[in-house]
Amino acid sequence: MAEKQQTYERTIRHIQNLIAGETDRIAVMATVVCELHHSLETFDWTGFYRVVAPGLLKVGPYQGGHGCLELSFDRGVCGAAARTRQTQVVPDVSAFPGHIACSTTTRAEIVVPVLDSGGELIAVLDVDSNQLGAFDEVDRIHLEAICKMVGQAGSASEPGVS
Ligand code: SME
Repeated sequence: MAEKQQTYERTIRHIQNLIAGETDRIAVMATVVCELHHSLETFDWTGFYRVVAPGLLKVGPYQGGHGCLELSFDRGVCGAAARTRQTQVVPDVSAFPGHIACSTTTRAEIVVPVLDSGGELIAVLDVDSNQLGAFDEVDRIHLEAICKMVGQAGSASEPGVS
C-alpha cells in the first residue's frame, strides 16, 4: 500500500515536470498514460476515452492491447463514469452489469471522469487490470488528482480536442 502511494507520488511529479506549460490535451493525455502504464505494475490497459458527441466516447491515447474504438454512455464501466461523473472502482468486472470486454483477460477496472475547468465532461481515464481487486482508494485518490491536471490543461477549442 505504502509502496503504491510512493509510486504514484513519484509518477505525479514526473508528469507535472513533463507537461508543465503544455496546453494540448492530447499531448498531455499521451504523456499521462505512458507514465502511468510503465510505473504501476498492475496496469494492463491504460487509456483515455474522449467525449466526441453527446453520449459518445471515442478512444484517445492509450497503452496496452488494442482498445474498443467507441463506447456509448449507456453501457459499461466507462459509460457509468461518464453518465454519473463519478469514479467507478470495479473489483470484479464479471459482476458489473453491461461490462464491455475489450480484452478477455481484464478482471478489474477503475474509470475516472475528466472535467474541464468549466466543469464539462471531456473524457474518462480507463485503467484495466488482469488481477481481481487490483484498485483501491489509493488508486482513486491519485488518478483523480491526475485527471484534474489533465482537465485543467489546455482548452476545449484547441484543434484535435473534442
Ligand atoms: N471495459 C470498458 C471498455 C473499454 S476497454 O476495456 C479498453 C467498459 O466496460 O467501459
